[in-house]
Amino acid sequence: MPFATHYAQHIERLQALYTDALLATGHFDAVLIHSGSARYHYADDQTPPFRAYGHFSHWLPVNRPEQVLLILPGQTPVYFQVVPRDFWYEQTAHLEDWVRAQWQVHTLERSQGVADALQGLSGVDIPPLARIAFLGENTPFATAIGLPPESHNPSALLHWLDFQRAVKSEYEVACIRAANRLALQGHTAARHAFEAGSSEYAIHMAYLQACHILDEETPYTNIVALDEKAAILHYQNKRRQSGEHSQVLLIDAGCKTHGYCSDITRTWTRPHTDPRFVALVDAMGDLQQGLIERVRPGIPYPDIHVACHEGITDILLQSGICHGSAEELLAHKVSTLFMPHGVGHLLGIQVHDVGGRLKNARGETQTPPPEYPSLRTTRSTAVGQVFTIEPGLYFIPVLLEPERNSARGKFINWGLVDELTPLGGIRIEDNVLVTASGVENLTRVRI
Ligand code: GLY
Ligand code: MN
Ligand code: MN
Repeated sequence: MPFATHYAQHIERLQALYTDALLATGHFDAVLIHSGSARYHYADDQTPPFRAYGHFSHWLPVNRPEQVLLILPGQTPVYFQVVPRDFWYEQTAHLEDWVRAQWQVHTLERSQGVADALQGLSGVDIPPLARIAFLGENTPFATAIGLPPESHNPSALLHWLDFQRAVKSEYEVACIRAANRLALQGHTAARHAFEAGSSEYAIHMAYLQACHILDEETPYTNIVALDEKAAILHYQNKRRQSGEHSQVLLIDAGCKTHGYCSDITRTWTRPHTDPRFVALVDAMGDLQQGLIERVRPGIPYPDIHVACHEGITDILLQSGICHGSAEELLAHKVSTLFMPHGVGHLLGIQVHDVGGRLKNARGETQTPPPEYPSLRTTRSTAVGQVFTIEPGLYFIPVLLEPERNSARGKFINWGLVDELTPLGGIRIEDNVLVTASGVENLTRVRI
């Protein structure tokens, strides 16, 4: 089982990271992490699907509420596995052997039982309550078990941990790799469904079925957009009507493995698709792979974003969508009308993983360049980081319409824009790992 050895190393690495974090930030000798609590819709007894807190999932691949971890430098970490006595819901709490082997597991019926456990567990050296930092959303729970407010989510510790989350252990990379392989099965099925003229809804279902997952198990709501809907960046609907005459599918869909996400976008065309749009898709694919080839340790991520806009500018000129010189188009930020989002983001436990704009572990931040406010990652690349590279080119009426008579609008061939607008847009997205020698594409693998 490849995860087993990787997980043992991962836990060892996390132990070292947390030990360093506690030393560097002071005040605390241990950390208690709560997975979270079920939230109810307003005035309702129904809850949205539960998602454990990221710093909890970093340690343990268990997606359940009310679970508690106690991290003590130099000691085996403790997992308070809370399994209520309850006949309304399934309460099976299975732990893989390779996970259990790394923990001291104490099973409790209620999370409040942690309060007694903190008074003293046999074989565990527990510091005074005031020296235990609490990480989690449910701070009333922390108070109830005796952890004072000053210990709740200390920002210095959180900055430190958020910053380190960008660099993945081998275990985490193995999880993201597996999540990519799984999602690719879904993407293949989705492509076939599109080619057969299926609806957005049927394409979505084909994806889920091929991945063998439920909708609630995806890392984010699948974006399954035919034609003009591809221009809606976070399109959430799934139209039921036939896609018999559809020309374009933009599908942005991932999977999760042990809590780690993949985030993949493909744009497909059909034999009857407007060849000018097909040529654009090919050009965007080349641009995307070219951007990935540039990745290596030590480059400011905004440089990749700028290179992306230079590439899109060239495509806008070569395709005849714009005219003028590349310098003029760049000076007028014309490409931002066609690609209004960032070229990518850190990826891990969260699809938009934490710490993308942190300059250092002390919590100083780096804002994106003013002309690219949507860029989520402003850090420099480093070995072990995983992020997406996802250039896009869209015909978004709400962005383009106000430019018809503007200064930069004169660089745009509106006739061609009007003809291509019904085809929506293009995004191509892979997940990459920064390595010592450059980059590994975790998405372009044979399945
Ligand atoms: N799927 C969301 C994104 O690509 O950022
Ligand atoms: Mn993404
Ligand atoms: Mn995506």
